[in-house]
Amino acid sequence: MSPLRSFLAILPLLLSISLSTSASIQESFIQCLSFHSDKGYSFNDSIYTPNSASFTSILDSTAQNLRCLLPSAPKPEFIFTPLTDSHVQVAVTCSKQLGIHLRVRSGGHDYEGLSYVSQIETPFIVVDLVKLRGANVDIQDNTAWIQAGATIGEVYYRIYEKSAVHGFPAGLCSSLGVGGHITGGAYGSMMRKYGLGADNVLDAKIVDANGNILDRKAMGEDLFWAIRGGGGASFGIILWWKIKLVPVPKTVTVFTVTKTLEQGATKLLHRWQEVAPFIDNDLFIRVIIQPDANPAKKGARTISTSYNALFLGDAERLLQVAKQSFPELGLTRKDVQEKSWIKSVLYIAGYPNDTPPEVLLQGKSTFKNYFKAKSDFVREPIPESGLEGLWQRMLEEESPLMIWNPYGGKMSEFSESDIPFPHRNGTLYKIQYVSLWQDGEKSAEKHIDWIRKLYNYMTPYVSKFPREAYVNYRDLDLGMNKKNSTNYIQASSWGNMYFKDNFSRLVKIKTKVDPENVFRHEQSIPPLPVSAKRTKCSKCNKWEV
Ligand SMILES: Cc1cc2nc3c(=O)[nH]c(=O)nc-3n(C[C@H](O)[C@H](O)[C@H](O)COP(=O)(O)OP(=O)(O)OC[C@H]3O[C@@H](n4cnc5c(N)ncnc54)[C@H](O)[C@@H]3O)c2cc1C
Ligand SMILES: *[C@@H]1O[C@H](CO)[C@@H](O)[C@H](O)[C@H]1NC(C)=O
Ligand SMILES: *[C@@H]1O[C@H](CO)[C@@H](O)[C@H](O)[C@H]1NC(C)=O
Ligand SMILES: *[C@@H]1O[C@H](CO)[C@@H](O)[C@H](O)[C@H]1NC(C)=O
Ligand SMILES: *[C@@H]1O[C@H](CO)[C@@H](O)[C@H](O)[C@H]1NC(C)=O
Repeated sequence: MSPLRSFLAILPLLLSISLSTSASIQESFIQCLSFHSDKGYSFNDSIYTPNSASFTSILDSTAQNLRCLLPSAPKPEFIFTPLTDSHVQVAVTCSKQLGIHLRVRSGGHDYEGLSYVSQIETPFIVVDLVKLRGANVDIQDNTAWIQAGATIGEVYYRIYEKSAVHGFPAGLCSSLGVGGHITGGAYGSMMRKYGLGADNVLDAKIVDANGNILDRKAMGEDLFWAIRGGGGASFGIILWWKIKLVPVPKTVTVFTVTKTLEQGATKLLHRWQEVAPFIDNDLFIRVIIQPDANPAKKGARTISTSYNALFLGDAERLLQVAKQSFPELGLTRKDVQEKSWIKSVLYIAGYPNDTPPEVLLQGKSTFKNYFKAKSDFVREPIPESGLEGLWQRMLEEESPLMIWNPYGGKMSEFSESDIPFPHRNGTLYKIQYVSLWQDGEKSAEKHIDWIRKLYNYMTPYVSKFPREAYVNYRDLDLGMNKKNSTNYIQASSWGNMYFKDNFSRLVKIKTKVDPENVFRHEQSIPPLPVSAKRTKCSKCNKWEV
């Protein structure tokens, strides 16, 4: 063995000795941070170890999926909460120098907890951007610079503070962190009019694998393409986005109309599939589907379908559009409410009427559960018989939930390669499946098993070759061996589901900007190994290694 080879062979051993106790990791990290920062700056108050009184409350604070906080879930050695952009730079430098695996968290909504749990490496640390939440809105320029740790609700609020006729087309849930949210696409109730959040990004600042801060010009168009939809934590740490604001009317209109099976839900939903993706671009009607008590039969359940909508216009025009294009819904004036755009944000996010917009500044989430979720894209209407089978399965589960989101409109005007998000023209709608539960680990397996079976049942009705999935609904079931993050053959299977053929371009960009795979997780974009033959098997869409 050459001296270099033998040194490399014992390197992991050396690292594991020097990192053998958490106290020493934390101390070395603080020393490293101080060494690379302004003299005299103490990082003691920004580091939380499991011994700190506030460790658990900080770890739990923004974590959305309680399943990822169970005692059995691996915990970070410590959490670092940077106060400035340069702290994020030195965190990357120091984690590389000390060989400590790093996870980054903005809003904590990851479905598999990838921003605060590593199943593939110990030790790991969490860099939590919770204190980096600026939002500078420039109404004259129709733009804003927003910082990764801000929630999308804060961004909406900061826009509303300056203008009643500007908005931004991103998520429906107000507590999403813009750092993770926009890297995966970011859809919401204005997507049929303006596209995704990621379609409306003009510039960004990112810390790369070398600890440099790059803006669009410095990073180049390849990397700028990859971070707008290629999924979180594969290419670097987003510090800031520059977003393009969009016009919204002074008055918008919202409604929620609910129909049960007894009220003809199946026929109406069948019709919705044909109508919602093609209706006026100002109208977004999603459907929230879950079991509900059956008023006609004591103790029995039915399926309830709630048509929950935003219309970018007043009630009178909405009623005309509905009457002309979707008369089956039977929408009337008393079903609909006119509001300002910011109030419609609160309505769609599920806040009670009359909640003041300031609630958006609290960054609090209205959703914290044990859950497992999956997604599908639908390209042809599902026949009524298929829907009936779906109802049967939902009625067997305690707390299932589906949300169907219409596509079409502006979404179809972008090409599949404009950004890595490929689910464009031809997509009728997206399905999100969720199973929720309350009793932690106890029944987890049962519910996860249920949702996997449901997903199998849906195979004939949804997109094929590949079966598409939304990267922001991260799902570790998709073709991934959790123990092996460098398995390219398996990576191409989830990669093609999330990104279709854009996955190959993401792999090429990753190989260029982060060949050592500093930014990695269970489903991060893999770089090609230096030794890999860079050929692509044309029929099977897999990388030959
Ligand atoms: C209740 C709920 C409602 C949702 N509603 C919507 C919706 O309406 N529309 C929609 O499109 N999606 C929605 N999502 C999905 C959401 O967009 C994704 O979970 C998104 O990744 C969350 O971003 P985050 O910053 O909050 O999460 P995090 O858990 O902090 O991050 C998610 C991923 O991105 C990485 N990451 C975080 N910050 C950065 C950064 N600064 N730079 C690089 N990588 C980073 C993390 O490491 C992780 O891998 C919802 C999720 C939940 C739980
Ligand atoms: C930070 O913590 C270290 C070790 O825990 C201690 O020696 C040092 O004095 C602390 N520094 C400050 C400024 O509190
Ligand atoms: C979407 O695809 C359909 C059918 O292929 C085509 O007729 C239509 O023009 C496309 N729409 C856009 C906006 O490109
Ligand atoms: C991980 O996958 C790579 C590439 O397929 C393979 O060479 C390696 O042996 C695997 N490692 C483990 C631990 O399975
Ligand atoms: C992006 O994905 C689409 C859909 O698979 C594909 O047609 C296109 O060639 C891809 N673009 C790039 C640049 O890889």
